[in-house]
Amino acid sequence: MPYKDLGEFITRLDQSGALTRISDPIRADLEITAVSDRVMKSPGGGKALLFENVIRPGETEPCGIPVLVNMYGSRTRMAWALAVEDIEEIPERIRSFIKPEIPSGIIDTLKRLPQIVELTKFPPKIVSSGSCQDVVVDNPDLTELPVCKCWPKDGGAFFTLPQIITKNLNDGNRNVGMYRMQVYDRTTTGMHWHIHHGGSGQFQDYIEAGKRMEVAVALGGDPALGYSASAPLPDGIDEYLFAGFLRKKPVDLVKCKTVDLHVPANAEIVLEGYVDPEERRIEGPFGDHTGFYSLEDEYPVFHVEAITHRENPIYPHTIVGKPPMEDFYMGWATERIFLPLIQMVLPEILDYSLPVEGIFHNYVFVRIKKRYPGHAFKVMNAIWGLGQLMFSKFIVIVDEWVDVQNSSEVMWVLGNHCEPERDTLMVKGPRDALDHSAPLAHYGSKMGFDATKKWPEEGHTRPWPDRIIMGDEVLARVKGFIDKMNTE
Ligand SMILES: Cc1cc2nc3c(=O)[nH]c(=O)nc-3n(C[C@H](O)[C@H](O)[C@H](O)COP(=O)(O)O)c2cc1C
Repeated sequence: MPYKDLGEFITRLDQSGALTRISDPIRADLEITAVSDRVMKSPGGGKALLFENVIRPGETEPCGIPVLVNMYGSRTRMAWALAVEDIEEIPERIRSFIKPEIPSGIIDTLKRLPQIVELTKFPPKIVSSGSCQDVVVDNPDLTELPVCKCWPKDGGAFFTLPQIITKNLNDGNRNVGMYRMQVYDRTTTGMHWHIHHGGSGQFQDYIEAGKRMEVAVALGGDPALGYSASAPLPDGIDEYLFAGFLRKKPVDLVKCKTVDLHVPANAEIVLEGYVDPEERRIEGPFGDHTGFYSLEDEYPVFHVEAITHRENPIYPHTIVGKPPMEDFYMGWATERIFLPLIQMVLPEILDYSLPVEGIFHNYVFVRIKKRYPGHAFKVMNAIWGLGQLMFSKFIVIVDEWVDVQNSSEVMWVLGNHCEPERDTLMVKGPRDALDHSAPLAHYGSKMGFDATKKWPEEGHTRPWPDRIIMGDEVLARVKGFIDKMNTE
């Protein structure tokens, strides 16, 4: 079942013993990170944390707005956030749409009809009122929210789980992206949308037209909404339509009070305002999901003109840093959910993984069914042309027997199967905005490793050795020994 709002999800976490409530007063400034970082790094991701008494910078008493951290931070909670028990249910559902089995007769066809209709069944629904507007603040003050400063050298306090809602100037299409926002003062923040991402793409049109861009920022709501804002959907696909698909129920949207945008009716807090096409300000540094501080840079500025919120809102927050952190589980959900879509264009991909050490874009391990000479190079080139996978810095392609979910196995095969000069490919192209090793921001080189078995047609005329595997018949013969040792 989808969740009506964040509160319903918290209730589920509470009832399942997946949430720790912390009532002792704690500071938004660094202390929440110090506690949460330890929890997030515990095996399996630790529990979700609800800090009930948070002290804002410069104050001595708790502010009355609880801070929720690590709600997505385990495989189980990530699945629950998307209204399933096992994340694999989602790619399975996607597979059933994109690869429908041919119906065997009229009854079968009728049975499959709801499946096909389901794709378009959950567009966002405009409603006339929403609890996110229970309280309307015309004279906004961001310092009244428990926005946290995460790491010692951060340039300030940052919103870290916002859904940033904007509209395409030309066709009105909505984009919802998750971009951190540094609080500068009571009414302004940074707008850290990377040049490659949807919000920045839409902003470009406003710059060219010399027009202010209206922006709304939603915090909270069904956790499927925040996840969808982070998902690498192609431009033009509404993240709230995708959220409706995930939760099998439309997202209720309500019109903002001061801008011509719609926000989730059941969000906790909404900021309304605009970004000026001319204005830039230094943003950062910020302790980032690379595990290093991202460098200061100039970014647009968001002016907040109104804040609306529920009565007693909860403030959702995450902390990024040296992996694993909560965002690893969000990236893992994306890895699993997008596999069937990647396979639509690259059916030879049997599986892939974005290992935790690679912070999504640094390492991509791909398992293929190799059919022709150079097949691994074809797959790398295709991946570098596929949406946000274009940032993949090191791609390793392996044969179908290698378990790409096991990084140690991939490293073993890479070392054994790869002849550096022959089996690597270097290309140039866009690089992730956070990659501090790129000599120029956003641009640099990427490398692919063909770690598949080499064929004579690829110039490898020497024999290729077999893997060492014990025979099943011998294993069956010694089973008694092994069982006995296991029980001793
Ligand atoms: C916790 C978290 C924080 C993120 N922060 C940023 C950010 O500050 N800037 C950015 O451009 N992308 C950030 N991202 C990544 C984008 O949300 C993600 O790439 C998304 O697909 C962008 O969508 P868009 O292309 O529709 O803008 C963040 C993701 C997560 C999970």
